[in-house]
Amino acid sequence: MILQVLLDLDYKSWLIGLFLFLLLIDIIRNKNPPRFPPGPRPLPFVGNIFTGLDFKSIDKLAEEYGEVFSLRLGSEKAVFISGYKMVKEALITQLDSFVDRPVLPLFHKIFRGLGVGLSSGYLWKMQRKFANTHLRHFGEAKKNLELSIQQESVFLCQAFKDEKGAFNPLFYLNNAVSNIISALVFGHRFEYHDERFLNILRLDTEAILLAGSAQTQLYNAFPRLFDYLPGPHQKFFANYKTILEFLKDEIRKHQEDFDPLEPRDYIDAYLLEMEKKNSDPEAGFNIETLVITTLDMFEAGTETAATTLRWGLLYMMKYPEIQKQVQEEIDRVIGQSRQPCLSDKPNMPYTEAVVHEIQRAGNVVPLGFPKKASKDTTLGGYFIPKGTTVTTNLSSVLNDKNEWKTPDSFNPGHFLDDQGQFRKREAFLPFSAGRRVCVGESLARMEIFLFFTSLLQHFTFSPGPGVELSLEGQMGFTYAPSPYRMCVNPR
Ligand code: HEM
Repeated sequence: MILQVLLDLDYKSWLIGLFLFLLLIDIIRNKNPPRFPPGPRPLPFVGNIFTGLDFKSIDKLAEEYGEVFSLRLGSEKAVFISGYKMVKEALITQLDSFVDRPVLPLFHKIFRGLGVGLSSGYLWKMQRKFANTHLRHFGEAKKNLELSIQQESVFLCQAFKDEKGAFNPLFYLNNAVSNIISALVFGHRFEYHDERFLNILRLDTEAILLAGSAQTQLYNAFPRLFDYLPGPHQKFFANYKTILEFLKDEIRKHQEDFDPLEPRDYIDAYLLEMEKKNSDPEAGFNIETLVITTLDMFEAGTETAATTLRWGLLYMMKYPEIQKQVQEEIDRVIGQSRQPCLSDKPNMPYTEAVVHEIQRAGNVVPLGFPKKASKDTTLGGYFIPKGTTVTTNLSSVLNDKNEWKTPDSFNPGHFLDDQGQFRKREAFLPFSAGRRVCVGESLARMEIFLFFTSLLQHFTFSPGPGVELSLEGQMGFTYAPSPYRMCVNPR
């Protein structure tokens, strides 16, 4: 009887039936567990893929749905956590709840769960431990790093001095910052006019911008479909292919003249570790992971700190009276006859406050890197099942109205007490917090302080003629200032 009815149906009824059947499967498969965080109603099959995933859209959704809310992207559920208190609860109080990384197809195609930044479990633990130890060994402990940043500042200031008229500082800053991590990892720096290296920096900047585009993010929801379609994700992959070739080349050169008795840099130390960890393949010390780890350091260590400095110069041009106050402090504490050094920091509370405010307002990594619930967890009264992708909205912490007096304006007073002394702030989390906190935090802080003070010691910055400076940034994987041209006036 039922069979007869089915056979009598026309093809339109068949299609409607099939659609309803698939819809039912979709509803059952994506049903949220009890007490799952609320969120906008998802469309059948695709979920909330048309909702913007940039930090401004996420902020708006948090206003509507609360500090813990969810989206469905394709069939993947994602939870977003906002505000200082809730982010602190997730990253610090519940230290072991959100430690692993989810598989994001766009990045997975390049990083393949290897290295430090996008790996999980035992491999991540071992790689991170190695990175922490050796970044310290080749840098901080030996005071090498301070010297290397001071030397690079001389090159940078000279390059700025040689510019005639207004110019865009982007690639000088990228190159200078990248040279610090390059010296640690590759054992050498790159000249500012090295065309091959400049091309790598260009491809990197472009890829980071592309990673934030809505179209590229669609790849994460439907990777198998988008693999066959043209679009910005293909450019993203092509750029990384060239960057990977460049890194493999550096590693190959190291292998050629590697001396296990005298490791010169991070790559040599890693090659040595590969020999030591031969019997522990799970720890992942092999050439494949070395390439990705090198990419981790190079990527994470270049764009973020250089972008912070670009925000810094932009804010100084926008607020010349603040620029002047920093210069007065530099003149008083350092003068013009020697280079800034790290031991000047405690004597320069105003500059310290300005540098921190640049990081707060610049908001360079607004959404951090996504994590994954490592176990079933309850947060803010909501249930987050193991395996759910979780994003902590760092931007909402750096702009939390309950923590900052004037979150929307550039105000070094956020980091000064009544006596004009520098004061630390708990809600200052540009490097995130907890188990996954940025590996390069102290390196980045040194770079930002030393480059920034050296530049302001030598120059006064002003916008190019007729340039209207905008504080509206460009959204990519990082949040960067829109390109600008500036003039440098030697002091
Ligand atoms: C101003 C500069 C920088 C900022 C704002 C920044 C910010 C961040 C943030 C927000 C994370 C994600 C943490 C999380 O998942 O919760 C991170 C991770 C990371 N950063 Fe940085 N970073 C900076 C500079 C650097 C530098 C110079 C290095 C070079 C060594 C570096 C290496 C890394 C690595 C390897 C990770 C991954 C850590 C992990 O997954 O365990 N970063 N950074």
